[in-house]
Amino acid sequence: MEQTECLAADDAGIARAAEILAAGGLVAFPTETVYGLGGDARKDATTARIFDAKGRPRFNPLISHLPDLEAAERYALFDARARAVAEKFWPGPLTLVLPQREGAGLSPLATAGLATVALRVPAHPVARALLQAFGGPLAAPSANPSGRVSPTRAGHVLAGLSGRIAAVLDGGACAVGVESTILGLDGDQPRLLRPGGVPLEALQEALGQEVLIGPGAGADDKRPNAPGQLSSHYAPGAMVRLGARGAETGEILIGFGPVKGDLTLSAAGDLVEAAAQLFHILREADLLAGPGGRIAFAPVPETGLGRAINDRLSRAAAPRG
Ligand code: TXA
Ligand code: MG
Repeated sequence: MEQTECLAADDAGIARAAEILAAGGLVAFPTETVYGLGGDARKDATTARIFDAKGRPRFNPLISHLPDLEAAERYALFDARARAVAEKFWPGPLTLVLPQREGAGLSPLATAGLATVALRVPAHPVARALLQAFGGPLAAPSANPSGRVSPTRAGHVLAGLSGRIAAVLDGGACAVGVESTILGLDGDQPRLLRPGGVPLEALQEALGQEVLIGPGAGADDKRPNAPGQLSSHYAPGAMVRLGARGAETGEILIGFGPVKGDLTLSAAGDLVEAAAQLFHILREADLLAGPGGRIAFAPVPETGLGRAINDRLSRAAAPRG
């Protein structure tokens, strides 16, 4: 156990965080999607500690975070298509899976030994300041114990990882609230590997090409060639039921739009608001439901950010393996 420092997201806090990272320590930091558990992506011992702190299987590779496209190009091969989406959506909630540039120096633990690498340039000002101060690639999975609900506030990080990481930078609540969209650009056809903060429709429009859904052949539950794709994930303590128009006895109902609940993702039926609230509400509902309790969610449309919301909800509802 170590004492986890809670750092204010000011110049002193960011300088302290960069110092811990330079010494090989782990610091959770805010991004616009969720809080990340950051460590130097070039160091084997540090990336190994990220897996240990989360209890994450080592075959599940990490996203490396960079301050800008130029820095990202040191670690991966960008074709014209990749450069076009990077220029359009970075900084922002998009991760690109690209062929790795050989000998670029990322730890093979960070990439789980794959020939590809997942890269993201986050937009959150605290994440950007930290990347500038640190001056290297930060491997950062979501800052939660593996398989649990992702953190969108510093308090969520501490609830799951206090005593297992050196520090958390407190940047308040994350604005997007669901993880980045992961786009695979390592083959002929672009693939949506995880729906997230950039809607599929926006990617399709920018690429002017159809985006295939899912990882394609070769992926399975034990060895995901793709993102976050272990089927039971985001698991709260309570059982979760989806598509509910009303509560059954003993259920905590989470509403959306016209379906009123004990809590609501968005009374106005706004998908952006619903995504921003999703993980916090899932935690609140879990507390209200109590151990062995039950949570029901109203239906959410499968468009825009609704795709990412429904993906996370169906994993929260999946049988626990
Ligand atoms: O919004 C986000 O993406 C957050 C913030 C912190 O940036 N990070 C995040 O990381 O969600 P994580 O580790 O929870 O999810 C990253 C996913 C993993 O499920 C992994 O399977 C996938 O990215 N991934 C990483 N490298 C990959 C690769 N080379 N090919 C395919 N998938 C990859
Ligand atoms: Mg995660």
